[in-house]
Amino acid sequence: METFKLIAKYKATNVSVPKNMIPSIRSDHAGETGAVWIYLGAKCVFWNKKIKKMSIEHYETEKNHLLVMKHILPKANRSKLLILWRILGFSLGFLSALSGYRTFCITIQSVETFVEKHYQEQIKFLYKNSISFDLLKVLEICCEEEVEHKIDAKRDKGSSKNTFFENFWSSIISSGSSVAVKASKLI
Ligand SMILES: [Fe+2]
Ligand SMILES: [Fe+2]
Repeated sequence: METFKLIAKYKATNVSVPKNMIPSIRSDHAGETGAVWIYLGAKCVFWNKKIKKMSIEHYETEKNHLLVMKHILPKANRSKLLILWRILGFSLGFLSALSGYRTFCITIQSVETFVEKHYQEQIKFLYKNSISFDLLKVLEICCEEEVEHKIDAKRDKGSSKNTFFENFWSSIISSGSSVAVKASKLI
């Protein structure tokens, strides 16, 4: 899809980010960068057909999200640690995919659960303060698509209960994501 059509699809054509939202959108841009690189890392495990299929599908959406964030956030306001978010994203995607489809699905489910909450906080803030309805729409569309990713991973993980180590892994991802958001809001 051509860039301008894509930007329009996400209702991001004329969005300007209010000053008090810049740290949050910086963390969104950093997060979408990480997400793109998670799937780039996972795609390296091409011999696993299920991982390959999910990675190709989700990568397309994450690439769109990153394009939208790039469109709405001026270069000067972006995280100075983008190289780190790329390395961490790639490593997370590659290593969890190497551990097999179930671990990969648990990783994606954990990441997307975190991302959904992160977007929801911003959406609620904008609603509550009745500011930047345009930005709110963009975040809502992105958030809906993150929820779809979460549902895909949850469904494909299977119905068996998480083991102690799987829950532990999930909590590491959640804490790690929270640190990354805090850091990218600042730098
Ligand atoms: Fe995304
Ligand atoms: Fe996602």
